[in-house]
Amino acid sequence: MRAAVDRVGIDSQGRSTKVQIRRVRKGDLAKARDVIEQTFTDFLERQLGTRPRQPFGGAQYVHHRWLMEPWGCFVAEEDQSKIVGAALAVTWGAVGLLGPVAVLTNYQNQKIGQQLILAVEEFFEENKVALQGVVTYPTSPKHLFLYSKFGYRPKGLVAITSRLLDRRDGRTSTPRPAKGGLTVRRFSSLEETKKKAALARFHKITSTVCRGLDLAKEVEIVDGLALGDTLLFERGRDLLGFAVYHTPGVSEAPAGALYVKFLALDPQHKRAENLEQSLAAVEEVAAEAGVQRVIIPVYTRYWAAYSTLIKWGYQVDFTMVRMQRGKQEDYEDPTHLVLDDWR
Ligand SMILES: CC(C)(COP(=O)(O)OP(=O)(O)OC[C@H]1O[C@@H](n2cnc3c(N)ncnc32)[C@H](O)[C@@H]1OP(=O)(O)O)[C@@H](O)C(=O)NCCC(=O)NCCS
Repeated sequence: MRAAVDRVGIDSQGRSTKVQIRRVRKGDLAKARDVIEQTFTDFLERQLGTRPRQPFGGAQYVHHRWLMEPWGCFVAEEDQSKIVGAALAVTWGAVGLLGPVAVLTNYQNQKIGQQLILAVEEFFEENKVALQGVVTYPTSPKHLFLYSKFGYRPKGLVAITSRLLDRRDGRTSTPRPAKGGLTVRRFSSLEETKKKAALARFHKITSTVCRGLDLAKEVEIVDGLALGDTLLFERGRDLLGFAVYHTPGVSEAPAGALYVKFLALDPQHKRAENLEQSLAAVEEVAAEAGVQRVIIPVYTRYWAAYSTLIKWGYQVDFTMVRMQRGKQEDYEDPTHLVLDDWR
């Protein structure tokens, strides 16, 4: 048990109840998922005026993230019997990502969210995280206030973009084949010994983009659970970059879409054509997977990446704001070709 919040006069007999924060156990996974989905459905209903059938369009977060980072996942439990909140966090090397965080609507504004975030902050500290981030709703005063209490500052917009691959009206748009001598391999197809070497090559790219950033866990969980795959973009002996993507099922991809979780090109190869060819390769994989849409998030501080994506035909579906705290606050180089999602 990490912390507790007393809720006086809350139960049916007017007695005080205790909400405790503890780590997620295997038996909590389904419940934690329900709590997150129910909470976000309520929240989105208030925002949109209609109740979404599924808050994330079928995307899932809890099970694989817990397998990837069991020490970073917490629940708030009332009287050791009812889960009323949850917070997940993962570390990408020295970068810690907080979220999703959810507290059931009837339990909100009683400091449960803060206790969950505090538990995550301790986890980040234990893991010597140098930069922490969260992605949240830019129009919500509550979210700004809550995360800034923990030292997070709003940095820039994140655009969640997408492109339809095959529209029934026939106007657009089949995937365009990759050109320019780009070869594409899948991480899942590599021999085990080659996988280790590939992870080291990915790390070389990510740590040039942001010191200490390492996607190895993410690549391995996607491979291990077949949530999607990781593409290696190569020209001759050079690794130009890589992309981790999810396909629908039990992953973070909504139904009918391939979702790019992370894509980075080696800054040595940061030419717009290289990103365009990588996008074409991703779209080819999406078409083979039989999905209609590709979803790609982009942090607008990476303006060259954002501009290339828009030029290539992606449309912004919605925007969020990235908040950060930590030492390397201004690591982003706007010319780096990075497409990443910290949600
Ligand atoms: C965001 C969320 C997790 C916060 O949980 P919570 O238990 O309600 O949060 P807490 O009670 O610990 O803290 C909320 C703080 O915001 C403050 N607050 C509430 N409404 C506010 C407003 N309109 N403007 C400014 N501050 C506000 C509260 O006063 C409290 O601060 P205080 O304790 O210093 O008074 C919860 O509201 C939730 O699940 N929302 C829906 C899902 C969601 O948006 N998740 C986060 C996505 S990034």
